[in-house]
Amino acid sequence: MRNPFVYGEEVVGESFIDRDDELRMLTKDIESNERVFLISPRRYGKTSLIVNLFGVLRGKRWLTARIDLYKATSLESLANLYGVSVIHSIESKPEKWIRFSKEFIPMLRPTITINPDGQPELSLNLHPREQNIELLLDKLYNLPEEIAVRHKKRVIIAFDEFQEIRTLNGEKIEKALRANIQRHHNVSYIFAGSKKRMLYDMVSKPSSAFYKMGKVIHLNKINRKDFERFIINKFLQARISISDDALGKIFTITEEIPYNIQFLCHQIWDKYYGQKKIIIDDVEATIKDIAFGQTPIYTTIWDRLTLHQRRVLKAIADSGGKGIFSQDFRQQYGLGSPSSVQTSVNSLISHEFLDRENDSYVFLDVFFKEWIRRRMSDFGPEQKMNRF
Ligand SMILES: Nc1ncnc2c1ncn2[C@@H]1O[C@H](COP(=O)(O)OP(=O)(O)OP(=O)(O)O)[C@@H](O)[C@H]1O
Ligand SMILES: [Mg+2]
Repeated sequence: MRNPFVYGEEVVGESFIDRDDELRMLTKDIESNERVFLISPRRYGKTSLIVNLFGVLRGKRWLTARIDLYKATSLESLANLYGVSVIHSIESKPEKWIRFSKEFIPMLRPTITINPDGQPELSLNLHPREQNIELLLDKLYNLPEEIAVRHKKRVIIAFDEFQEIRTLNGEKIEKALRANIQRHHNVSYIFAGSKKRMLYDMVSKPSSAFYKMGKVIHLNKINRKDFERFIINKFLQARISISDDALGKIFTITEEIPYNIQFLCHQIWDKYYGQKKIIIDDVEATIKDIAFGQTPIYTTIWDRLTLHQRRVLKAIADSGGKGIFSQDFRQQYGLGSPSSVQTSVNSLISHEFLDRENDSYVFLDVFFKEWIRRRMSDFGPEQKMNRF
């Protein structure tokens, strides 16, 4: 039987736990032409939610296009991504891609290649004669509205990892995008992202191009009862039951982050498929396998950190990450002044080891946290050298 726990890619169909409330709310907002900023920490399920929302909207004859800005490394690659996504939303047949592209975006030269999976792939390159990339982008931003009017259909464009637009050419591109999309009446927009502070700044700072441009939706973790039911049912389909404390352990250790839960369950399934019951010891053993299986990577990371950063990580791993600037905390873990804690924390956040959730600091990789807790159990404030 195929492992039913999917991680590391967007989930659809059987693998997607219905986020009924979120889907209903998003659908309503989008249908009433609201622009939505969808924000959550990494791996909570933004992309999956967007893909499933697209499924709902396509059922209502909408055209859907998603642009992943992580893939845009230059203005030219943004133009390619934008153009290709919009063309795919309207034409599914490769033979029509070229004709469409030549008619609507003559500034770009289309080519079709066959990718390693044997599927045709469209790419759009700037004509060598054509230098005015800004004009081209203006044209592309307006293409969805043009298509919507011509085909009498509504269109949704989702920018995934929207904050990455800042890495392209800063404010200029944001202003141009805003100026164009503000005029659209038949196209709805979602701006999704995981760099929370950056995205909040983009919508809430009066000086920002996207100031008050839409509604902010903060995506939370998945309803625990729904996730429990999902796990129990998936194991049951293979005639495996799972004890209550084993299930509880899965949720605490993963901090209820959807990716982590699916990842851990995937490994438990692989390890114990064929067994009748999963008990808490099995969950423990799997966590240990995962954490220690990553030892070569985690050791390399650990070695590159400063002694103070290691202390901060160890302290957060042991304590849960609340009140880390308080005098008691700093004294207990030998962390020195609040400003040195701040410096280490900032660096650990920018390297994506930690994230801030309300008033506490959490590990992005909970298995790294487990590895530190278990492997570095005697790494204390007085430690001068790392243990490896
Ligand atoms: N609704 C869901 N049902 C089941 N699993 C989910 C759901 N949403 C997310 N997941 C799990 O979390 C993983 C990450 O989901 P997704 O890629 O959608 O999140 P994301 O917020 O876009 O992440 P990133 O910040 O890395 O872009 C999925 O591969 C899946 O394992
Ligand atoms: Mg994503």
